[in-house]
Amino acid sequence: MASGNSPLAGRHILLGITGSIAAYKAAMLCRLLKTAGADVRVVMTPLAKQFITPLTMATLSKNPILVEFFDPENGAWNSHVALGEWADCLLIAPATANTLAKMATGVADNLLLTTYLSARCPVAVAPAMDLDMYAHAATQQNLRTLAARGVRIIEPAEGELASGLTGKGRMAEPETIAAFVGGLLDEKKKTLEGKRLIVTAGATIEAIDPVRFISNHSSGKMGYAIAGELAARGAAVTLVSGRTALETPVGVERVDVLSAAEMYEASTAAFDGADGAVMCAAVADYTPAEVAERKLKKGDGEMTLTLRRTRDIAAELGARKGKRVLVGFALETHDEEAHAEAKLERKHFDFIVLNSLRDAGAGFRGDTNKVTFIDRTGREELPLLSKREVAARIADRIEQIMERSGEKHDADTAPAQSRKS
Ligand code: CTP
Repeated sequence: MASGNSPLAGRHILLGITGSIAAYKAAMLCRLLKTAGADVRVVMTPLAKQFITPLTMATLSKNPILVEFFDPENGAWNSHVALGEWADCLLIAPATANTLAKMATGVADNLLLTTYLSARCPVAVAPAMDLDMYAHAATQQNLRTLAARGVRIIEPAEGELASGLTGKGRMAEPETIAAFVGGLLDEKKKTLEGKRLIVTAGATIEAIDPVRFISNHSSGKMGYAIAGELAARGAAVTLVSGRTALETPVGVERVDVLSAAEMYEASTAAFDGADGAVMCAAVADYTPAEVAERKLKKGDGEMTLTLRRTRDIAAELGARKGKRVLVGFALETHDEEAHAEAKLERKHFDFIVLNSLRDAGAGFRGDTNKVTFIDRTGREELPLLSKREVAARIADRIEQIMERSGEKHDADTAPAQSRKS
């Protein structure tokens, strides 16, 4: 990596090392960051010193290593606040299950953790642990919590582990981590700066009476991932959200709604000043014609509920869209492409993201999705990806559409003279 061109050149990287056997790879990582032109300071947890010596890390980073809150020799204070302010990125590699759990719960019992809690810069972690520890529900929950707060997770790889077992938990390679941090700090990636986008997400809830409702299985994860990705690229994002258990992605303005009618009001109002919308919510197509004021009591016979159609939010935005970008979703169980294409036309989407419940790993609740993009020029089938990765591909397409319509706009408004030339 030539340091002059690298997004890491001149950047301040605070490298946190925790007590994992993968700490030996932190030496190579530090070298790569330095070669790319970054200024690296290293904070180690007390246990990390058992895995790699401070001397090694001090020599490679060309800075003294920080472990304790103060220097026991002379009482000099190692300010975690100053470290957090200095850093352009806090990178914790390797990150143990223990440190991830402490980060998720706000424990502050070493210098690395207090620095994490006070850092305002982007934070990335590269987990390293045994496969069962990584797969454990507690670790996975902690990773989800951290991701929802904006911490970037550098996924561990599958492979041979120090325990002798083979599986997922092996820290990503130093080259991968350095490239990831480079991408994170690459300011050129603020490609949606100045754009205002709406994302609808989650399931709507249609009340039957004060205690019952009609809804669906949507978890909101896909829409939240999209909102987070668009915000990370610099867009001002309004997330119109049905009920979910998810945390609001960093930098996103969230408007909570319950019913399809409320989602319609919030989305159409926000669309006025927007450059586009991604319609990811699973909106009820029908709602009870009347909501009982009191709890309905059961009888002996059958019960009939009269439903009426809700308003189609996507179709309404499609009718008003003009040059704005509109992205739709279709979750189908059969005749997938034909249904998706019909929706693309009916609602004037620029493209539609099709997922089929027939594909393993696609659909509700999971962290992966298998989608096909369909527009008027054709289709692009993607492999099984994390929802975060799918969100990035959707954001890429939105950028391309905006670029094309910007170019067209420039050509349409260019002075006659220059148009001739
Ligand atoms: N949509 C919406 N408002 C509605 C219904 C759907 O904005 N009232 C959006 C969804 O967010 C999604 C797309 O429209 O982007 C889905 O199209 P739709 O035909 O409504 O899908 P289904 O509701 O699944 O319809 P069908 O039952 O016909 O498959």
